Amino acid sequence: MRKILSPSILAADFWILGEQIAAVEREHVSYLHIDVMDGTFVPSISFGIPVIETIRPHTKLFFDVHLMITEPERYVEEFAKAGADLIDFHVESTQDPAEVIRKIRACGKKVGITFKPATPVSAILPYLEQVDMVLVMTVEPGFGGQKLIPECLEKVRELRRICDGRGLPTDIEVDGGITRENLREAMDAGANVIVAGSAVFKGDVQDNLRALCPLFD
Ligand code: DX5
Ligand code: ZN
Repeated sequence: MRKILSPSILAADFWILGEQIAAVEREHVSYLHIDVMDGTFVPSISFGIPVIETIRPHTKLFFDVHLMITEPERYVEEFAKAGADLIDFHVESTQDPAEVIRKIRACGKKVGITFKPATPVSAILPYLEQVDMVLVMTVEPGFGGQKLIPECLEKVRELRRICDGRGLPTDIEVDGGITRENLREAMDAGANVIVAGSAVFKGDVQDNLRALCPLFD
């Protein structure tokens, strides 16, 4: 499977966000992970639609939008219009995950489903055939710069086994606490899309990307 790095702009320097996104693109990365937090589903508030709309015309990067908001069904169309290519929503954030999936598809966008560390893999299994990607949170959602919870990689292994067993080409993304040191372990567990916030944007972005990129397609 194609191995993809998805740098999370939550850790970027917003004063020079445009420059940092251009640096990502220069190193031939193709994805950008965009964390939207509403202060209700998770304790913190990040940024939303105006930021996505502002950066969309300036980059060809694939926008992997991770919604950490309650009732995502209310906002799917707006995020799609703003420029999301894939919309990830939390199975815990809605009464009707199937309806969220239907709405994302109706907008012609790719679908990702995600779940918190305490939620079992079984919670997303009913939707597995209907999504392009499963995002396995490897930290508690809400903040960048946390340590990866090693038990979450067991969920990656379980999911990859299930996808292989069902013959599904589903992308499995990991998000939270990824470093140069534990990246391979996450890939070996079966993840092929890797979110990295601090590992890309803290320190020198170009140096970080040059160290990370050889591990990706
Ligand atoms: C956490 C976010 C992550 C975060 C990752 O809620 O979903 O995408 O930005 O940041 P790092 O890589 O610093 O753990
Ligand atoms: Zn995220």
